[in-house]
Amino acid sequence: MSAEAQKKRAGEKALDFISGGMAVGLGTGSTAEYFVRALAARVREGLKVETTATSLRTAALAEELGIVVKDLDAFSRLDITVDGADEVDPALRLIKGGGGALLREKIVAAASDAMIVIVDEAKMVETLGRFDLPVEVVPFGLAHTLRKIEEAARRVGCAGSGAQLRKLHSGEPFQTDGGHFIVDCACGAIPKPEDLAQSLSAIPGVVDHGLFIGLASKVIVGRDGSADILSE
Ligand code: 5RP
Repeated sequence: MSAEAQKKRAGEKALDFISGGMAVGLGTGSTAEYFVRALAARVREGLKVETTATSLRTAALAEELGIVVKDLDAFSRLDITVDGADEVDPALRLIKGGGGALLREKIVAAASDAMIVIVDEAKMVETLGRFDLPVEVVPFGLAHTLRKIEEAARRVGCAGSGAQLRKLHSGEPFQTDGGHFIVDCACGAIPKPEDLAQSLSAIPGVVDHGLFIGLASKVIVGRDGSADILSE
């Protein structure tokens, strides 16, 4: 079975956690897209939900499929957010931001009573850090911020090869929906994700980072022929 089929299975399984009247956060990425498509099919059948999106890309897709998307500030809280991840460890700590939407994803997850993470089985790891950690930074003073990110990673015991600015094929820096840049940090195994998260958050110029700790309530892992549900 392909990773795509596993992603689809996980995305569709997340519908089990959605009921009428809920306020739902819509994640970003290819797995989240399967959820949005499955949700849109239910909405067409008459399910009533209110939604907000974690990226302009997801908002555009949801609206194209007939789902009404509101600004996050239209809600005092969300019942649930369904989103993908780049890595998940056994403590349900995540690396996110492969699609460059980590800041809005974290804000929306933090505004939600529950965050359901949907992944294919290749995303499950024993130790976070095989996937380069995305860090969202302001463009001003980029070289300084990048060095401080590398120092922070080294200080907490990461032996990776360093950080680099994410670029488009054109060579221009990738820009997030908020106009920031993304630095991808090849940390290697992250011995203590909490320590790295704290160090990165303390760097001036860092807007946020892709370590999501204490946010995921459940992880749905799409496998061949089943979808496993892991709970916090
Ligand atoms: C976007 C994300 C995505 O959820 C993450 O990159 C996983 O993407 P995909 O489902 O396409 O593998 O964090 O910022």
